[in-house]
Amino acid sequence: MATPGAVRSASENEAWWKSAVVYQIYPRSFADSDNDGIGDLPGIVDRLDYLQELGIDVIWLSPVYRSPQQDNGYDVSDYQDVDPLFGTLEDLDRLIAAVHVRGMRLIMDLVVNHTSDQHPWFLASRASREAPTSDWYFWRDARPGTVPGEPGSEPNNWGASFGGSAWMWVPERGQYYLHLFDPSQPDLNWDNPDTREAIFTMMNWWLDRGIDGFRMDVINFISKDPEMPDAPLNRDGYGDGMAYFSYGPQIHAYLAEMKRRVFDPRPDTYLTVGEMPGVTPEQAREFTHREHGQLAMVFQYEHVFLDADGDKWTQRRMNINDLRDTLAKWQTALGDSGWNSLYWNNHDQPRVVSRYGNDTTYWRESATALATVLHLHRGTPYVYQGEEIGMTNAPFAALDDFRDIESLDYYAKAVCTHHEDPADVLDILRRRSRDNSRTPMQWSAVPGAGFTTGSPWIGVNPNHNWLNVAAQRGTPGSIFEYYRALIALRHRLPVVVDGNFVAVHTGRDQIYAFRRHLGDTTLTVHANLSDLPVSFDRDDLTARDLVLTNYTLSRSGPGRLEPWEVRVHVR
Ligand code: GLC
Repeated sequence: MATPGAVRSASENEAWWKSAVVYQIYPRSFADSDNDGIGDLPGIVDRLDYLQELGIDVIWLSPVYRSPQQDNGYDVSDYQDVDPLFGTLEDLDRLIAAVHVRGMRLIMDLVVNHTSDQHPWFLASRASREAPTSDWYFWRDARPGTVPGEPGSEPNNWGASFGGSAWMWVPERGQYYLHLFDPSQPDLNWDNPDTREAIFTMMNWWLDRGIDGFRMDVINFISKDPEMPDAPLNRDGYGDGMAYFSYGPQIHAYLAEMKRRVFDPRPDTYLTVGEMPGVTPEQAREFTHREHGQLAMVFQYEHVFLDADGDKWTQRRMNINDLRDTLAKWQTALGDSGWNSLYWNNHDQPRVVSRYGNDTTYWRESATALATVLHLHRGTPYVYQGEEIGMTNAPFAALDDFRDIESLDYYAKAVCTHHEDPADVLDILRRRSRDNSRTPMQWSAVPGAGFTTGSPWIGVNPNHNWLNVAAQRGTPGSIFEYYRALIALRHRLPVVVDGNFVAVHTGRDQIYAFRRHLGDTTLTVHANLSDLPVSFDRDDLTARDLVLTNYTLSRSGPGRLEPWEVRVHVR
């Protein structure tokens, strides 16, 4: 494609994504142009000026491929077509062109750890051991000495992410297939070269169509230990197989082959970001290494697991020291040789302002403080739709309000199998469910929040009557305008992009402080990540160097930070 203008390029073509800010669109919930209650591609085209105003460089589109929508598109039945829910391939071409005209770029979600069980590859594979795609999935016989198809005869004890065994019995084949997520999402067998070839061909087809890269769904799961041994048991009674598939023996080889077959032969540079649950800082540095890495960046999970105890449904209080230490650890570990992706929110995480911030008394302050810390780290920041206006978790009243397959599976297992109190389980869902981030984008205060005039597929958060784009766009002091200022800072100051990272110890637990250095320039961030004011040794910061704060200075002096106050100095 032609080189867009907004992102620094030309000589930096090497890695244009280093100075970029990415905006994730969850198409179902973004903008509904035909008012059927589900967001669509033409709806996105209508909102591109908004994203441009915010300062966005790249759009990441969650899946719009043909899909039975069991997992809202993360179950693909045709990789080379658009689901009619969202529009047509021509609509997608129009979106790509409209994005490029504005100097922005677009990356697609690549879901190739698994397909839908309705994908023709799987339908053929399950029907017969003679089919050409027979071996494109992981088929295994029942455990020796058991009755095939009966509980306990699964090939190993692994549990699936969405609950239950990771194996599903298929009488036609007399075998089990592996699904690390829902049974409707069978895992693709990457050990088969034909499978890999088909995937690389499909990726090339998309790049030829003009997209600018991929966000790769759970891409570190594609190589499995061929032995597939039993694993230590989780709380739910199933084995935790992570050790055998989250960093499998061929993971580097497969990603290197993908790079060789798909990206290297092309003159342009693409943004590739791999979602990698369980990845360690050392592994991430290898995957993203400037010289020999296979991906531009990865999504790690450590900082979004600090309020979970073992599994995501068991909550624990997030400790601010842990958050500070985790953030700083990843900054330091990837250092100069690797590259971080920076995120608080996505379609799988509850809203950060409700989770690590304070969505009542200090809603604006905590949303902007968390944003500041993230955006001024070294790495590529991601904004998830609605984050830029401080959207919060939703007040789901009853089970009927939830749509997410993971949440519904969890409820069924907890209440029906483990006989937990339904009220307690609902309470957990309210805090942890992925649906918190999937409620419709809040454009305005009208019914339907300006997302749709129809009946939305999931309820609109009632707080859209005051929390919406229309109320914040152009309003001084709003979260939206603060995000604009933060993004503009990245585009203006090379130190934000290229500066190294040094943690600063203030002796105060609730303050997260760090410096970024580039040449003679030093950028310093002080953030109070708590509901209480705090005094600290004011170092050598002066009001003259202050480039950004989320408070007006009259309220607090140097050496003291109000609740969730941040100050950014550059000299
Ligand atoms: C990733 C996606 C999530 C999906 C899962 C299975 O974690 O982000 O939404 O459910 O993979 O595809």
